[in-house]
Amino acid sequence: MTGITVLKIGGSIITDRSSHIPKALPDQINRIAEEIAGSYDNLILVHGAGSFGHIFAKQFRLTERFDTRGLIKTHCSVKKLNNMMINALSSAGVPGVPVHPFGNCLLENGRINEMFTSHIKVMLDQELVPVLHGDVVMDTVKGIDILSGDQIISYIADKLGADKIGVGSNTEGVLDDLGITIPAITPDTFDKIRMYITGSSNTDVTGGMLGKVQELVELADTVNIESWIFNAATPGNIRKFLEGISIGTHIRTDT
Ligand code: IPE
Repeated sequence: MTGITVLKIGGSIITDRSSHIPKALPDQINRIAEEIAGSYDNLILVHGAGSFGHIFAKQFRLTERFDTRGLIKTHCSVKKLNNMMINALSSAGVPGVPVHPFGNCLLENGRINEMFTSHIKVMLDQELVPVLHGDVVMDTVKGIDILSGDQIISYIADKLGADKIGVGSNTEGVLDDLGITIPAITPDTFDKIRMYITGSSNTDVTGGMLGKVQELVELADTVNIESWIFNAATPGNIRKFLEGISIGTHIRTDT
């Protein structure tokens, strides 16, 4: 059995982020499911919320205050997107199973305080593909907060001792201020280049590109897990990543 791979697909790939209502991109969802069908051994999949999450999170100001209606509306909406992903995986022959962070996770001031993951290990042992997603989650300090897929991948990769992480975004990798892909980032170079990293332009309540890179650099630094940020909108890239081909920006330790 190969080591654990954690793959996040950004919400901007599987939904229309410029839409004012939740809008899925079924062709992209199906293509991604077919690419995953090529190799999904020991794979944990995490997808973003895109327009199914960010619109309601912003509308109800869920990162600032507790709101019952907003909580339920947002969670139900991201669950719908998760269901689409599960169905597409199933049609492609991949045994994806839903794991909703709202039900297995607790935040403290926006950061994961506890997340039950023992069942995820058993799912992997049974050759299932757990599919998590960005979600609204209970928070001991704030009541509720938004948990991004980016925070999930670093937490879960660390806790379950993953080998590698892939972040499928809508750019070729991490871009500098001239729009050129930065080939590699290490904890040493991050401080020098962080000011050149371009953020996300759409409605984003969870930090955009800089937030992603920060989480992954910390992970490389503390537990030596490598990651790749690449363009998941380009057909074939997800397959390449899963097959171990280096694409996009490689985030690793200095040694
Ligand atoms: C956000 O998740 C979750 C909600 C807004 C409910 P992500 O931060 O992982 O989603 P994307 O990838 O930016 O769409």
